[in-house]
Amino acid sequence: MEAVIQKKSEKQGIDEVMPSNEPQDIQVGDKTVGKPFADNPKMAMRNVNVHYGDKQAIFDVNLDIAKNEVIAMIGPSGCGKSTFLRCLNRMNDTIESCRVTGQFILDDQDIYHPKQDIVPLRARVGMVFQKPNPFPKSIYENVAYGPKIHGLASRRVELDEIVEVSLRKAGLWEEVKDRLHSAGTGLSGGQQQRLCIARSIAVSPEVILMDEPCSALDPIATAKIEELIAELKQNFTIAIVTHSMQQAARVSDRTAYFHLGKLIEVNDTKRVFTNPEHDLTEAYITGRFG
Ligand SMILES: Nc1ncnc2c1ncn2[C@@H]1O[C@H](COP(=O)(O)OP(=O)(O)OP(=O)(O)O)[C@@H](O)[C@H]1O
Ligand SMILES: [Mg+2]
Repeated sequence: MEAVIQKKSEKQGIDEVMPSNEPQDIQVGDKTVGKPFADNPKMAMRNVNVHYGDKQAIFDVNLDIAKNEVIAMIGPSGCGKSTFLRCLNRMNDTIESCRVTGQFILDDQDIYHPKQDIVPLRARVGMVFQKPNPFPKSIYENVAYGPKIHGLASRRVELDEIVEVSLRKAGLWEEVKDRLHSAGTGLSGGQQQRLCIARSIAVSPEVILMDEPCSALDPIATAKIEELIAELKQNFTIAIVTHSMQQAARVSDRTAYFHLGKLIEVNDTKRVFTNPEHDLTEAYITGRFG
């Protein structure tokens, strides 16, 4: 599909009233500028609209996520980043007032097809949340739980292997190998977040969604997660929501800028942070609002 490119010098029609703390002179426009589409999409989203009751949170978003890329989603608080991310593994299904329309294709499969079973979908598209949320179980059980319910291991040695490999990939093995049977909740915040990453990796997902995974972590734990993202990219496709522009710049290949529920710009990360195409992106990254 061909991307609709609109330069910032071109006319972008005013279609909403801007809140007073935002640049009044910048027009939103209807089309996403830049490169929202990919040659090798792992996921393809088309004409996505999301409502909570009467209130619309996402407006006609079109976006591809390429295989093995890290895509960062940025934008001011309330612009719809989490809402959009949660659509990607149908996490919004649990919110009663939430209505999602549009197409969501994973490989060639429509993930909102009435026959789509949510459990295997969530194994293929895993999620790591803002606040680390280990189960009240041992470190071992936190990681083993998913493979057990998905029937990925028939014998204990296989399960042991999955637990070790997942903890190694999450960069946590050396720190916990001697206390696998102590509580996951007894780990530090940064360790808990890596445990949650190990838990999501354990079921061999294809896509990992991360919603501000470092916002509760100190700079050292954050650096570890960022290193991990760079490694995980070899095997997984990653979409990460972050409020840290430095983080987006460090970890992602492309960056998507959302504003008031619209996807304003998607471009190579370097481009977004050095020479954004849309004035709204520029205003945000230079700190004029947000
Ligand atoms: N469960 C919900 N019920 C009703 N409205 C919601 C719900 N969740 C989000 N919203 C609304 O949808 C809009 C987008 O919210 P969302 O949480 O997706 O934004 P966000 O970009 O992730 O913000 P933040 O950076 O603060 O996390 C907001 O106006 C928000 O109030
Ligand atoms: Mg959010």
